[in-house]
Amino acid sequence: MKLRSDVFAALALLAGIGLAAQAGAEVERPLVESAAASHNAVSFADEVMPILEQHCVECHSEENAELGLRLDSYEGVMAGSDYGTVVEVGDPDGSLLVDMIASGDMPEDGDPVPADELEVIRTWISEGAENN
Ligand code: HEC
Repeated sequence: MKLRSDVFAALALLAGIGLAAQAGAEVERPLVESAAASHNAVSFADEVMPILEQHCVECHSEENAELGLRLDSYEGVMAGSDYGTVVEVGDPDGSLLVDMIASGDMPEDGDPVPADELEVIRTWISEGAENN
């Protein structure tokens, strides 16, 4: 019977590791927290960057910067493209980045940015486009 209890112990250990791994996978943050739901300022790092990562960096990053525009960091977003800035601080309606999404021109390929995600970006720009 000694052997059998060792096998049980080993199985229990494996099951424990499996559970721990699963628990670890579940701590991921939701991709976008609703800007409207909270009175806190929209966070560039936590809310805006995940949207850009999902829809834009494929064509606007260090490796592949269409028109010289990099949307893979705060500095890149604020530096704009070869033609100039794409974010006008405090003025989402005057920001080319917003305009290109709202008009459906960007992303050039792939799923359009949902309205609530565009709203997150607009709010972030209205609030001063901070590196927060
Ligand atoms: C499949 C590739 C692709 C994706 C994805 C993509 N872009 Fe672009 N983007 C381009 C290309 C190519 C251009 C240049 C030609 C043009 O303006 O259509 C461009 C141009 C732009 C410009 C204009 C820059 C200027 O100064 O004229 C902006 C702003 C822009 N993209 C923002 C975005 C945003 C924001 C996203 C994500 C929501 C995005 N792009 C996703 C390919 C892409």
